[in-house]
Amino acid sequence: MPGFPNTGVVGPAVLSREKRRAESTSCFTSIPGTVVAGVWFPNTRRKDDTMIVRRRLVFAVLCGAAVLLAGTSQASAASDATLKNLQAAFNGESNARVKYLAFAKKADQEGFGEVGSLFRAAARAEEIHRENHAAVIRKLGAEPTAKIEKPVVETTRANLVKSAGLGEAYERDTMYPAYIKQALADGNKDAAQSFQYAQETEAEHFKLFEAAAADLKKSAARDYYVCTVSGYTMAKLDRAKCPGGTYETVK
Ligand SMILES: [Fe+2]
Ligand SMILES: [Fe+2]
Repeated sequence: MPGFPNTGVVGPAVLSREKRRAESTSCFTSIPGTVVAGVWFPNTRRKDDTMIVRRRLVFAVLCGAAVLLAGTSQASAASDATLKNLQAAFNGESNARVKYLAFAKKADQEGFGEVGSLFRAAARAEEIHRENHAAVIRKLGAEPTAKIEKPVVETTRANLVKSAGLGEAYERDTMYPAYIKQALADGNKDAAQSFQYAQETEAEHFKLFEAAAADLKKSAARDYYVCTVSGYTMAKLDRAKCPGGTYETVK
């Protein structure tokens, strides 16, 4: 039976070449004379095994680094999902703002002054959402980007119905709930808060647009109230609904 060179040690204390190779390729191999995961592995071999021990230590460190890198990569993929959602929401809010300003102009032309004011208030709210999302995007080290499309302007009644049924309802029921869930899973409270403010506001926009469509009549412009932190939009002022109590009057 072979022994270590220059040691005179022979027999069972000597690891076979195959066994050494097998042990040196596992991250979970115990290292004699070391503590792994709180467990002491006594050094039962001769000091001549030092090279093997060193090799295993280096391998263990490399394994640890690989595990850390894998964890970092997973966290990065998670925050990438929220960043992607923030960019999509930023784009959506930016376009909604442009669209509602165009709808306000149309409503004024058709003599629906109240609806004109409502669309301007909604546009201001979408602008606040846009800026809220932008702040979180920048906090994540990215730049907010939006592709503004030319809005399709129809009659005021159609503008109200489509804005409520297609835009606001989708954001309220589908888009923002999914984004909030993802942000919470990613541990991004800023993003979750920004999405939450938008979702609560879109729910109110839906109601206001539906009510306006159901009672469309010639009218003069009027005041609406928009919370400056969350964008929450009201026909009747209730400061308790504004985070921080601050709001703007939009006519
Ligand atoms: Fe919005
Ligand atoms: Fe909205």
